[in-house]
Amino acid sequence: MMDQSLVDYFDSLDSIDPMDLSESALMQNYGKAALCLVRGNGAWVYDSDGKAYLDFLSGIAVASLGHAHPKIAAAIALQADRLIHVSNIFANEVGPKVAAMLNRLILMGYPEESNGRVIFSNSGAEANEAAIKLARKYGLESKRHHIIATVGSFHGRTMGALSATGQKSKQTSFEPLLPGFTHVEWNDVSAIEAAITDETVAVMLEPIQGERGVVDPSPGYIEEVRKLCSSRGLLLIMDEVQTGLGRTGAWFAFQHHSILPDIVTIAKALGSGMPIGACWARDSVARAFTAGDHGSTFGGQPLAASAALATIREMIEIDAPNRAQELGERIVKNLDGNPEILRISGSGLLRGLNLMRPVAKQVVEIAMGKGLILNAIGDSVIRLAPPLIVSSSQIDSACDLISASLGEAQ
Ligand SMILES: Cc1ncc(COP(=O)(O)O)c(C=O)c1O
Repeated sequence: MMDQSLVDYFDSLDSIDPMDLSESALMQNYGKAALCLVRGNGAWVYDSDGKAYLDFLSGIAVASLGHAHPKIAAAIALQADRLIHVSNIFANEVGPKVAAMLNRLILMGYPEESNGRVIFSNSGAEANEAAIKLARKYGLESKRHHIIATVGSFHGRTMGALSATGQKSKQTSFEPLLPGFTHVEWNDVSAIEAAITDETVAVMLEPIQGERGVVDPSPGYIEEVRKLCSSRGLLLIMDEVQTGLGRTGAWFAFQHHSILPDIVTIAKALGSGMPIGACWARDSVARAFTAGDHGSTFGGQPLAASAALATIREMIEIDAPNRAQELGERIVKNLDGNPEILRISGSGLLRGLNLMRPVAKQVVEIAMGKGLILNAIGDSVIRLAPPLIVSSSQIDSACDLISASLGEAQ
């Protein structure tokens, strides 16, 4: 018999403020939320009071096609009605198409490379876990498992990805970490060279350090690391979780440097908000994984993959990389010369406003009051990651609001 008290409790949840319920029912690992967002449309999101905000964060570089995109919503609805999940015991019709498209986009400009392969996951951290395991399996015969990563990097919160991350503040409470990682200074090729041992199998980098504060590679750094890896027989793992899929003005940020990594990890924008991650590798590397080596119950399931397929298709149709490039330049043009801004870092529509004063958090709060969502990284950097479908006039309005907020910060 149905337990009426459970139904009553279920129904009573509607009358509790979601912010209060978040505080009482969720672990408090994210800090207190500033807003409860209930719906979105394009570059706009709306809170529970109906107030509109221009979203210049896109769920941290996820909603690249904006919110409630009709084609993405339709693809998800269609697939939900057909088949949501089958597990990887069976093939499905959708995931392999996404893999083939990623292969095509990553290998653009490299016709001599015959192929690459993809393993799907459900997040960026998991895509990096797959990359770490793949590199270890690849190095097994030659007894190499060590990975060199960089100080300030961010690769995720699971234990392997956290061990690869170069931020002590995120790691110390969870030691001992996974062994086999060395961190060297960012933008220092000789530091990588000096850290190589007989056990080193790979170098792992973000093409732009996003979570550190949108920190650019110095000219030639990525190219030199690629050369070093090739000459020393190391894999180059490029974490494109934040930068990938058009955001920086190229399909992948490594393409600004005319290099090809051996392994590329992708997530965030791939599913337009549906959880999906991917680890791509050159065929010769990918073949290190054989049956039973790695897996995920959900990875590449039809529903998440349908969102990814529709996302890629729409990004091609709107020429997302070029849009990001042009609109990013518009941001720079609008804000360049603002006396509160020391420097604008990043590329395309992933930008860091490096401030003269440590007022980033205050500016984010002021801007929110004005209906603009921004993101502070530390005290002095504001990260901008608007949807790639944002309009020129929305860029102009947001820049005006940013200037006004900077002017009001004490
Ligand atoms: C470069 C990079 N790698 C990995 C991750 C982790 O992704 P996820 O939060 O989906 O696990 C992030 C998230 O911000 C990221 O920016």
